[in-house]
Amino acid sequence: MAETLLIGSGNRGKAAELAELLVGLPWDVKGLGDFPEVPEPIEDGETFEANAAKKAVYFASQFGVACLADDSGLVVDALGGAPGVYSARYSGAGATDLTNNAKLLDALRDTPESERSARFVCCAAFVVPGQEPHLEVGTVEGCIAFETLGPRGFGYDPLFIPEGHDRSFGQMDSTEKLALSHRGHALRKMRTYLESLQ
Ligand code: IMP
Repeated sequence: MAETLLIGSGNRGKAAELAELLVGLPWDVKGLGDFPEVPEPIEDGETFEANAAKKAVYFASQFGVACLADDSGLVVDALGGAPGVYSARYSGAGATDLTNNAKLLDALRDTPESERSARFVCCAAFVVPGQEPHLEVGTVEGCIAFETLGPRGFGYDPLFIPEGHDRSFGQMDSTEKLALSHRGHALRKMRTYLESLQ
């Protein structure tokens, strides 16, 4: 019987993308909804790597199964790297995608097109209970639009235009986004690693 692989993310947009990237692997992929509810770990690391490892180690030890988690965020050059590891809660307590996008647009309202460079970063962490985490990192370069573009995706997708393209991630379907995205790059590397374990 295939071993269980838990996707350790309560963010439905992210969890769906992670599951899509694992299709075809010989694991029984499950989500947090398949396990008893536990509090999410506190993401107090200063790097994507530290937070991703913390989440995967936490859920693997809570439930005694292999876990894949990621930590990701948007790094905006004109804001000194913000929101970075604080991307999910950029606009404070009770932050939503809408309030985060509004805050980002406001922070960049006087920033010209030539200075709106940014990148998404994703660190994926795979943990077997009791073993060291295996990490893979992916990035995608791009720039921040002047208004939200497109209804798709999640988070900052409607504001992020990947380099070499004239549409935002919010205007792409999940297949097109995952071919370009930070999470797609990190997870394709992780897939190769998981295949090497078989
Ligand atoms: P965390 O990894 O759960 O701490 O959250 C990362 C946050 O970064 C998300 O809540 C989004 O705001 C943002 N983010 C990460 N990846 C993406 C993406 O692929 N598209 C849009 N926003 C993203």
